[in-house]
Amino acid sequence: MEQQSRETFGSQVGFVFAAAGSAIGLGNIWRFPYLAGMYGGAAFLFVYLAIVVVVGVVCFIGEVSFGRHTRQSNVGAFKSINKAWAPAGLIGILAGFMILSFYSVVGGWTIRYFFQAFSGFFADPVASGDFFGAFISDPLMPIIYHALFMGATIWIVYNGIQDGIEKYSNIMMPALFVLILILVVRSLTLPGGQEGLAFYLKPDFSKITGETLLAALGQVFFTLSLGMGSILTYGSYLGKDENIPNVSTIVPFMDTLIAFMAGLIIFPAVFAYGFEPGQGGGLAFVTLPAVFSAMPAGNLFGAAFFFLLFLAALTSAISLLEPVAAYMMEEHGWTRNKAVLIMGSIIFLVGVVASLSNGAWSHISFFGDNFFDFLDNTSGNILLPVSGLVTSIFIAWVWGSEHALKEATNDGTITFAWGKLWANVLIKYVAPILITLVFLSSIGIIPVGI
Ligand code: TRP
Repeated sequence: MEQQSRETFGSQVGFVFAAAGSAIGLGNIWRFPYLAGMYGGAAFLFVYLAIVVVVGVVCFIGEVSFGRHTRQSNVGAFKSINKAWAPAGLIGILAGFMILSFYSVVGGWTIRYFFQAFSGFFADPVASGDFFGAFISDPLMPIIYHALFMGATIWIVYNGIQDGIEKYSNIMMPALFVLILILVVRSLTLPGGQEGLAFYLKPDFSKITGETLLAALGQVFFTLSLGMGSILTYGSYLGKDENIPNVSTIVPFMDTLIAFMAGLIIFPAVFAYGFEPGQGGGLAFVTLPAVFSAMPAGNLFGAAFFFLLFLAALTSAISLLEPVAAYMMEEHGWTRNKAVLIMGSIIFLVGVVASLSNGAWSHISFFGDNFFDFLDNTSGNILLPVSGLVTSIFIAWVWGSEHALKEATNDGTITFAWGKLWANVLIKYVAPILITLVFLSSIGIIPVGI
């Protein structure tokens, strides 16, 4: 029987750590602060928090229920309810492909920075920026680290659910939290950091544009691992008696907390050391090293930080590879080993192109961006919201939100205080309409500006 042979998580805590491991990653510590820096600091934070609650948690509950009910990953889940919707699942698989290919390149950077910490970073902002720029544009070194990172990802997914994904997440996530807490304290006590705190916490609503909304929405999907089947697939491995509303609130809460704390580390430091908050993807790799080099025992903190960032990235990367591999296993009958090795290798090769586009191939432009930024922006801002929209519509209208609610409440045996609101209003109307509005506004059809 299909049902019995399918792997599951060993415990609810195992699922929470694995799902938190998936959610918490480079998206929180690298991507969130740089987006907040580019899109107005506190204004972005404010919009982001609102979207996490109204769209993020709502879609999260939907995906976990959908996955557990169908016991399939992306494409199979859609198909098992309505055959015609299989292509909807494929958008997610494509997004996973694109995200993992550049994600693994950045994962490789964390390994490089871990080693660098032992010999020290540059205290001078310009030197720190030059170091970063020279490293990522090198034709060979980032690719070697990308290979190491992708190799580790493949290794864990190859080992399956309980001995791979669950075992590693249980150890890595708690350690990350403690270290982040220490760094927050350090950053908040830096002289001159108050200005950064104000930038991050005092909203200037005039800075909210359609682009801010879209970037925040894309980030919510990205950081919660929604819209491409990571959470859906993990849901498919969740035991039938676990509490979906609970886990679906705990995980986004932990994820948001870590992102918020990453901002508390980065923005005071950015202002204390005279950096530019809107500089984009280099923020965590330029600013933080400079902070480490200025603090006592900075080498040690720096090494620990980049090691944990590596682990956080790894637990996310495995959740990006798993749905792609699960798709090949379920739909094309491949063995786990074959699916993981072949798909992992192709993703690695796409990542090589992404890495080269930061240096040797930077002149080749995709819709105005280099290939790396193209992958980042297209997957985050277009594919994830589109696939999130399609998934929420499917859950609410095709599968039917009353069926989804039945799954989420284990056939009505557990309490889900706002379950009716979720099923009749939030997943049915609010989430799809908001996602659509944000889209239309971002392409200029609806003007936003307060
Ligand atoms: N959420 C992870 C992060 O913030 C990245 C990630 C894992 C992801 N799985 C995903 C992003 C699925 C989008 C979709 O780093």
